[in-house]
Amino acid sequence: MSTVTIVSHPLVQHKLTRMRDRTTSTKTFRALMRETATLICYEVTRDLPLDEVQIETPVAPTTAREIAGKKLVFAPILRAGLGMAEGMLDLVPSARVAHVGLYRDPESLEAVEYYFKAPQDIAGRQVIVVDPMLATGHSAIAAISRLKAAGVTDLRFVCLLSAQTGIDNLSAAHPDVPIWTAAIDPELNDHGYIVPGLGDAGDRTFGTR
Ligand code: URA
Repeated sequence: MSTVTIVSHPLVQHKLTRMRDRTTSTKTFRALMRETATLICYEVTRDLPLDEVQIETPVAPTTAREIAGKKLVFAPILRAGLGMAEGMLDLVPSARVAHVGLYRDPESLEAVEYYFKAPQDIAGRQVIVVDPMLATGHSAIAAISRLKAAGVTDLRFVCLLSAQTGIDNLSAAHPDVPIWTAAIDPELNDHGYIVPGLGDAGDRTFGTR
């Protein structure tokens, strides 16, 4: 089963509460999405491998550390993932971005792909899939399957809010992919929305309610 890390940092929990509040404006919601994503990104990248390099400071030569290997790839699931990816890029501005366009069939709640664009050499990179809401898990499962089909073997999944159903489904489909989330809510409603959740993350980020 996937390892699940709950990012319980007080700043993340406080900002998540403001995002859950229905009276929070689009402008504030978007800013909070970006800020929480930056904070969660800090946790997700905590164990990145480092190389030693020789540099010269203005004072003396020294050995220092830098992130090893190829640049990371963030893979936001369109469209709600875009708001989170912005915050992650604030912290890792040299990361590459792969866009995965999926919509949810309103009847079956299954994910249907309509767009996929990734760096050509994505297979050799670590990819962090980004979607604020892990509800049924169908979109996350489809995005990760698509990335695996493109040859990616080193994957992580990051969301803001999840339901236990989504965690269970994703973990069963892709047990090799660790998950980071700020909270796990108790249930889904008949429309596949997380309860209590925060509503439609895409609508609240882009003001399309
Ligand atoms: N997607 C959302 O935006 N919100 C939910 O509650 C579930 C899926």
